Amino acid sequence: MSLYLSGDYKMCGIVGYVGKGEAQGFLISGLKRLEYRGYDSAGIVTIADDNTATLIRAEGKIANLEKKLAANKREDKIGIGHTRWATHGEPSERNAHPHQAGKIYLVHNGIIENYKELKEHLLKVHEFKSETDSEVLAALINSFYEDGKYPLVNAVVQALKLVKGTYGIAVVSTLNPEEIVVARSGSPLVIGVGHGETLIASDASALVGHTKRAIYLNDGEVAVVTKNNIAVKTLNAEPVSAKVEEIETNLSAIQKGGYEHFMLKEIMEQPESLTETLRGRVNLEEGTVHLGGPGLSEQELRKVKHLIIVGCGTAYHAGLLASYYIEQFTPEITVETVIASEYRYRSAYIPEDSVALIVSQSGETADTLACLREIKKQGVKTIGIVNAIGSTIAREVDGGTYVHVGPEISVASTKAFTSQAIAMVMFGLTIAQAKGVKPGVLRPYIEEIAKMPNEIAKVLKETNKPMKKIADKYAKYEHAIYLGRDIAYPTVMEGALKLKEVAYVDANAYAFGELKHGPLALIDDRFFELALLPEGPLYDKAVSNVQEVLARGGHIVAITNMPKLDLKVESVVKITTDLKIFAPILMNLVMQLFAYYVTAAKGYNVDQPRNLAKSVTVE
Ligand code: AGP
Repeated sequence: MSLYLSGDYKMCGIVGYVGKGEAQGFLISGLKRLEYRGYDSAGIVTIADDNTATLIRAEGKIANLEKKLAANKREDKIGIGHTRWATHGEPSERNAHPHQAGKIYLVHNGIIENYKELKEHLLKVHEFKSETDSEVLAALINSFYEDGKYPLVNAVVQALKLVKGTYGIAVVSTLNPEEIVVARSGSPLVIGVGHGETLIASDASALVGHTKRAIYLNDGEVAVVTKNNIAVKTLNAEPVSAKVEEIETNLSAIQKGGYEHFMLKEIMEQPESLTETLRGRVNLEEGTVHLGGPGLSEQELRKVKHLIIVGCGTAYHAGLLASYYIEQFTPEITVETVIASEYRYRSAYIPEDSVALIVSQSGETADTLACLREIKKQGVKTIGIVNAIGSTIAREVDGGTYVHVGPEISVASTKAFTSQAIAMVMFGLTIAQAKGVKPGVLRPYIEEIAKMPNEIAKVLKETNKPMKKIADKYAKYEHAIYLGRDIAYPTVMEGALKLKEVAYVDANAYAFGELKHGPLALIDDRFFELALLPEGPLYDKAVSNVQEVLARGGHIVAITNMPKLDLKVESVVKITTDLKIFAPILMNLVMQLFAYYVTAAKGYNVDQPRNLAKSVTVE
């Protein structure tokens, strides 16, 4: 059963040009506009009227490709290009797009899930040069194209009918430098309607300044575009009367998907980003989860007695949160979550049968990397929970799971947190499965995980506007206390970090039970208090702690999924959800929105807060 899939999930950027002008100009400027979507390698191919193709690719930022192009200027009038956010195969020139198979060249944005099976059948007819799923699609199309025996569009359609996964593609052939074939399912694709030229792009940001008119291709549609014509059909060859629309011309708005800041865009795209994290890893029928990446056998998983989770900042909080869940359903295991900058200098003893989870969005954080190397020296298996494909940590761990949330541009990590926490819970579930824990014990966790993308969408829709109003009310505060019990405790640690790093509010998280041991002394009008009150066995205890704060004149914002909150507090945010176990993760979304709107209300630079960097590559 496919999980939640909606809207355009952004990863790589693709472009295309056919027209009276020279293609290289648009291809490179278009790729620069789309660089925010992925920037670990890039390439273009143009085809001359004499059918010769010029393929130029480079690892790293578009600037590297631009340097190469400066030495290879071409007047060719047709071409396609790509900027990559790697999913399969590390960032390198040979894994960069366009990929060639015979006379055809392809650029692809998305994930071909069944690429391994397809590749098996193509080994006899294609010599693979990369590790990518996209080259498999190029080879598959070519196997039907048979060097031009059949129209390119027919070969593309036949191939796509065998594909499982998502794609936005553009395909050209040296045999016909007049047309580009494009298609989409799950990844965005826009066709710019010009005068004597037609432009292709993953989103309209690449078209701004070239045309104001565009056709937004829908899922299941394929189009043959030439300089003066655009013919759109469904994969079943039904003609489609494509609607030409006026495109949004404000560049940053487009790159931010219409949101004012990347932080809000990344908060709001979590239904999609988590879907990518879960893709192909949750089997609801069997009630099991499967993570291929860690590469631990059933027997190795069964033997695990101790888990060390290592990370910094938000990655550390995601680990701490996951540890609470893993302890709940995995017998005979101890879980230790450590701050990397501390752990690297501690002389901690690592017991037998340990595995280390190395958590990092960027995969480049110096302290986390140092811990990885220290732990490896002790012969302990290291498993990466990473977002940036091909990053140093991803390359040095023994195995790992990519969270696939796409580029996270805003310094404040939001979508990566949710996916890192769930990826680690799923890793814990694979250990529990191997240890023979009854499916009845694990199924509630797996069912809730499968439901989570939908539940996230509901909560974001329900709370986005109310959180703006509440944030405006509390933006005047310079001090805050965040409170939670059990799983809500690491959750408020993350919530407080967000308010600290983007709104510069001195926000500190405490376990409810710790209040009477000191923090309660802080309560006065300089502070507001944010309390998480999830439905569950500890709800009443948390409520009595809130009453202790109220008794000292606390200004409380309570976030709960209880149908009715029997507490008189200043502000209440109710979330409506079917989730019980993972309700705190949904409450964290509310705290992300709160931090965003407080920062916006204060007029601070939301995406690039002072004194911070997205990836801390120094100690
Ligand atoms: C989170 O919003 C911060 N950007 C920061 O705490 C971050 O989580 C930390 O630096 C770890 O980064 P990493 O996940 O890339 O290793």
